Amino acid sequence: MKTVTLAGTDIVAPNVVLGLMRIADKSDDQIQDLVRTARDNGVDFVDHAAIYGTEMHQCEARFAEAMQLTSSQRAELTIQTKCGIVPDGPYFDYSYEEITSSVDASLRALRTDYIDVLLLHRPDALVEPDEVARAFDQLSASGKVRAFGVSNHTPRQIDLLRTSVTQPIVANQLQLSLTQASIIAQGVASNMPGQDQSITSDGGGILDYCRLHDITVQAWSPFQKKFFDGVFLGDRDTYPELNDVLDRLAAKYDLTPTGVAVAWITRHPAQMQVVLGTTTPSRVADAAAGSDVPLTRAEWYELFRAAGHLVP
Ligand SMILES: NC(=O)c1ccc[n+]([C@@H]2O[C@H](COP(=O)([O-])OP(=O)(O)OC[C@H]3O[C@@H](n4cnc5c(N)ncnc54)[C@H](OP(=O)(O)O)[C@@H]3O)[C@@H](O)[C@H]2O)c1
Repeated sequence: MKTVTLAGTDIVAPNVVLGLMRIADKSDDQIQDLVRTARDNGVDFVDHAAIYGTEMHQCEARFAEAMQLTSSQRAELTIQTKCGIVPDGPYFDYSYEEITSSVDASLRALRTDYIDVLLLHRPDALVEPDEVARAFDQLSASGKVRAFGVSNHTPRQIDLLRTSVTQPIVANQLQLSLTQASIIAQGVASNMPGQDQSITSDGGGILDYCRLHDITVQAWSPFQKKFFDGVFLGDRDTYPELNDVLDRLAAKYDLTPTGVAVAWITRHPAQMQVVLGTTTPSRVADAAAGSDVPLTRAEWYELFRAAGHLVP
């Protein structure tokens, strides 16, 4: 398993991580099996959020109930969670009270006394950088949070936070799959008249911004066609060419198409992490196998074109 060190911290993390957004209705045995398989395949980093589940902190609590981690088992895992989405509305809230109270509730649900990485989940239009900084300082000084990051943020939103926040922003979790690849595809087709792919939807150059500032990009929904509308893997009606290329490269590299889809992300020199959402242990193993596969440049671009992106 290839690893990345989150800049400015001593957190060494696998480049494939286990997202636990979909475990609310899973049994203890299923959750234990999923996490055990992940660990056996080098995935010792889990991604949570306060909002995951049908009620706040539900997936965090299911994980803790099922795993019953001892303190040494807890220390072997890197636990990331997120805050800032208020479902009653919905709206976004980066106030001091919301950030600190959400972390306290996550700590209770997760049955731990520290969170390794805390992400601000979705940009709050009413953000006050000084308030975020006050919350981060309190959480850092109290030992409740080791490192901080963001999710779905544009370059300028991160710059704004950095006017007050002193801790490094270690990660930006962004949507990225072969078929929903705007953070990569826009740059490939920049300056092309009349092409939708040229239109910026991330505030402009978020991937390059993260590389320039040592912010690890974490790719969420790595197999979804677009936004929670099913996976492109095996969908030959919509993506026949892409599935042909995935199958061919899977045979060449002794992987499954799942592993090739992961390798397409991990091959990128930005050193991204892939945030899996599957609850099927064998799919976690298939995905982990794509952690460090040397796809050639020609193969990487062939997958990109087969997924429907323009190479002008
Ligand atoms: N920061 C954000 O705003 C944000 C937003 C969304 C998600 N996330 C994070 O990203 C993680 C991944 O998101 P996601 O679950 O949408 O991503 P995903 O890994 O692309 O999709 C997983 C879903 O696809 C299903 N699936 C069907 N066939 C599959 C196949 N062949 N291979 C893999 N999965 C298949 C899985 O079902 P089975 O479970 O039955 O395998 C599961 O329901 C989440 O757990 C969460 O941690 C973050």
